[in-house]
Amino acid sequence: MTILLTGATGTVGRAVLRQLLDAGAPVRALTRDPARAATLLPDGVDVVGGDLGDPDSLPAALDGVERVFLLSAGPQMAEHDANLAQAAAKAGVRRLVALSSLAAEEDPDGALGRWHADGERAVREAGPAWTIVRPGGFMSNALDWAPAVRAGVVRAPFRDLRAAIVDPRDIAAVVVAAMSGGHDGAVLPLSGPAAISPAEQVAVLADVLDRPVRFEELGVPEARAAMARRLPQEVVDAVLSARAAAGPFRARVLPTVLEVTGREPRSFRQWVEDHVDTFR
Ligand SMILES: NC(=O)c1ccc[n+]([C@@H]2O[C@H](COP(=O)([O-])OP(=O)(O)OC[C@H]3O[C@@H](n4cnc5c(N)ncnc54)[C@H](OP(=O)(O)O)[C@@H]3O)[C@@H](O)[C@H]2O)c1
Repeated sequence: MTILLTGATGTVGRAVLRQLLDAGAPVRALTRDPARAATLLPDGVDVVGGDLGDPDSLPAALDGVERVFLLSAGPQMAEHDANLAQAAAKAGVRRLVALSSLAAEEDPDGALGRWHADGERAVREAGPAWTIVRPGGFMSNALDWAPAVRAGVVRAPFRDLRAAIVDPRDIAAVVVAAMSGGHDGAVLPLSGPAAISPAEQVAVLADVLDRPVRFEELGVPEARAAMARRLPQEVVDAVLSARAAAGPFRARVLPTVLEVTGREPRSFRQWVEDHVDTFR
């Protein structure tokens, strides 16, 4: 029976897709832009057009679907999660595995935490069995630094704020395990294996690349302006305030990846080694 993936053209969803394909699972990918998705996804993936913000587009995508990976992004995520969770219930879907964020517990009064907590509620109330996966910051956010790393100077805020960032492949492995059952009704908070600060991340990048890369602290207002060039202002404000509010929580190292997958989570050094060409 088919597994429908949302977010399959994005960071986590693409890793989930690859791992399910490797396991021989029948998958279908929902995207707003099937032509673009066809250039990003492996040949032979069943791609279906649809928009989480348009409930009428969802029943066709859910036809014959038994399990769903639900990922939404941005200020409308609670509405989008509710749209898909309710359509899935109507379509007879048996299990939803939804991506949320540690922000739902670390910063429940902030915008990001609220968006995710509201989305989680919609998933829990829809009817099908559910698992909620709550990762902390992604190691892959460092890809935003690639041009700066190539130029030899990374400018970023929160120089010494350590966070136990997690490899999206480990998030995907937890999602895939939850997809097979055994974690129904569970909220799974996830971290990587160690807390590391932005300055320490840059030192790891320099070490793996074997050339100097400097870290320069950026004030929050400058960081806000830089992020606003590529993200909506509401999202920028939500991300920066969650990062400032979470403080020491972000350094918690959680046992979930090992407990759920039987494998230690990958280190940031491992992630850099596996993506080093992007930084050269
Ligand atoms: N980055 C972090 O450090 C971090 C940490 C914790 C949690 N999170 C959460 O992770 C999620 C983002 O995951 P990601 O980085 O893997 O995503 P991403 O790479 O930003 O990609 C977003 C995905 O969502 C899909 N999407 C967006 N709007 C859609 C809509 N209206 N209808 C259908 N699909 C839609 C896009 O598909 P198409 O464009 O193909 O339609 C794309 O596949 C967010 O909820 C974020 O809050 C992020």
